[in-house]
Amino acid sequence: MTDDEKTTLTHGIIPLPLGPTDASAPPIPKEAIPGAGYIPGIPRLNIPALTETDASLGVAYVSGLRGDGATALPSGLAMASSWNPQLLEQGGTIIGQEARAKGFNVLLAGGANLMRDPRNGRTFEYLAEDPLLTGVLVGHAIRGVQSNNIISTIKHLALNGQETGRKFADVQITDAHARESDLLAFQIGIEIGNPGSVMCAYNRVNGHQTCASDYLLNQVLKRDWRYKGFVMSDWGAVPGLDAALKGLDQQSGEQLDPAVFLGDRLAEAARTNPAYAVRRDDMNRRILRSIYEHGLDRNPVKPGGAIDFEAHGAVALELAKQGIVLLRNEGGVLPLAASAKRIAVIGGYADTGVLSGAGSSQVHAQGGPAALITQGGEGLAALFISEQYHRSAPLKAIRAMAPGAEVSFRNGRYVSEAVTAAKTADVVIVFARKWAAETMDQPDLTLPDGQDALIAAVAEANPRTIVVLQSGNPVLMPWLDKAAAVVQAWYPGARGGEAIASVLFGQTNPSGHLPITFPRSESDLPRPKVDGFGTVAPEIVGPAPVIDQELILNYDIEGSDLGYRWNARTGKKALFPFGFGLSYTTFATFDLKTDGRTAQFTIKNTGNRSGADVAQLYLISRDGKPMQRLTGFQRVELEPGESRTVSVTIDQRLLANWNGKGWTLPSGNYEFALGDNAENLTPAVTVRLATRTWKD
Ligand code: BGC
Repeated sequence: MTDDEKTTLTHGIIPLPLGPTDASAPPIPKEAIPGAGYIPGIPRLNIPALTETDASLGVAYVSGLRGDGATALPSGLAMASSWNPQLLEQGGTIIGQEARAKGFNVLLAGGANLMRDPRNGRTFEYLAEDPLLTGVLVGHAIRGVQSNNIISTIKHLALNGQETGRKFADVQITDAHARESDLLAFQIGIEIGNPGSVMCAYNRVNGHQTCASDYLLNQVLKRDWRYKGFVMSDWGAVPGLDAALKGLDQQSGEQLDPAVFLGDRLAEAARTNPAYAVRRDDMNRRILRSIYEHGLDRNPVKPGGAIDFEAHGAVALELAKQGIVLLRNEGGVLPLAASAKRIAVIGGYADTGVLSGAGSSQVHAQGGPAALITQGGEGLAALFISEQYHRSAPLKAIRAMAPGAEVSFRNGRYVSEAVTAAKTADVVIVFARKWAAETMDQPDLTLPDGQDALIAAVAEANPRTIVVLQSGNPVLMPWLDKAAAVVQAWYPGARGGEAIASVLFGQTNPSGHLPITFPRSESDLPRPKVDGFGTVAPEIVGPAPVIDQELILNYDIEGSDLGYRWNARTGKKALFPFGFGLSYTTFATFDLKTDGRTAQFTIKNTGNRSGADVAQLYLISRDGKPMQRLTGFQRVELEPGESRTVSVTIDQRLLANWNGKGWTLPSGNYEFALGDNAENLTPAVTVRLATRTWKD
């Protein structure tokens, strides 16, 4: 490579008309497809350009600037609720196929941040609060994407736990706490998925911007985990040239940074400082390695390819069905009989479509959104942060399921009108919605726009009230005792309306299990309020200067005990625990046997419908000290009366502590229990293990 060529792959632009429109604006090459990023190739060496798009939940549509649609998969939490790695892999595969057809070869997918705060505005994009569940699922999703001869990222390394102040928030956390939680999720995800690239995050960790963190990039990722791919920055997350020495390999979306550091400035530094010259070669080696490993050069992408929306829609539908979690079902109100005569559907734009989360992951399905409600801002920013509904109206799907019924709809704006409709109905289905977006956290866990009062009044008026929740976060449910049933549908994607109706009428037996804890109250959380919320200035979308303020996030409060582990440590009970999910049939799990390395147990469908259970294996105490860690899980589909014995491998890191250099498994009695959620455990099995230590 010539000197010039050596700083070609190390930085790139956002190929969108952002920022300055005068001569200082970087030119957007003709062949760059509107997307998140573009890095020119080197034709002389047959090195392809890197064309990047966001793609966690489908190929993103960059505020409608590209005139096409894509298959919108359900949100991350919805997909994770399936606890079905193979299905997430299928989801990744179709996203990758669509990306190829649109001319993209690098997918900004693989969101793996753990839910440290249920009010985090990006919780919907991520998968879980647990490192094993997140790591396994994200690894498979990445595998699916990369099965198309393209590169996927895993992001955002690391500890990007809230949106408030995300560009300057400084996470304080000990090495051990980080390695046993968020970093472990990334480590497992990388082991399974082998992503070609890792995206570092916006925030700081222990005083250092993560994209310039020697600890995270050089020590943890490249030394301890022996990661061979390249690190790309998040968009507008590079503080300076020095990041190159700290492990950053590629500067993305450079219009958003204070300067283009990994271009001419890097070339200049490499001329005089051998450390930069060595790093520059290493950056190129790493980027090229991923290009060649995933065959980007040998399988060039071309825009304009065909997409089988029918087949991909079927995958989106299956993910939505398996991701819906039945939280409550009193008196067997669900499934609804197709013979129901008068059904009142209320609220949530159920006549229009299904909700999606906003920000860089936003996908527009074919034909664009069914509805788009702006939330302020101008131009691109207004589109980036808008409440959008996909074209899959639950009302239409409900009508199709109950052709003989009179199905009415009220938008729910007026409580009195909704109550009148509820009183004369056999059954009421209230659709509640809580929209979430990148760049902003949720003020609290309530439902906005008076929906809690609406649900309470409707449920008071008709005891056969079913609440369908579309949210990207856990919510509080002050009306819970009055509601006959609660269905958590998350953001269910392109065919979400059909999936919801299918669960309501029992064509789908719900099998989703919560990948996050729903707390009883915000005072039960490690942080009763989101740090900095309402005090630090909100983020401005686009190439705006980072308003550098002081914001310390103490993650050592909970350490590695997130969600259910925090509750187990503090003796708290959840509103709905991690792992929870009802079915129209019943299951029993029994005969647990384990030597601490693998575990075998039997699951039986004890009811009278076919269905799927998610058996969960937890470590519940170590040498007499209570603790809780998910150590294995298995989703099993069973016919009535059928049973199956399964075996899971126990990742030894989940039994161990990080000792500063590696893992130590202390000798003692290890108590394991099976459960269908973190708070409903079968009698424990104890195994004695001898001390072991090992390197990462
Ligand atoms: C987000 C990333 C995304 C990137 C490019 C950033 O604001 O944090 O997740 O991949 O933008 O759109």
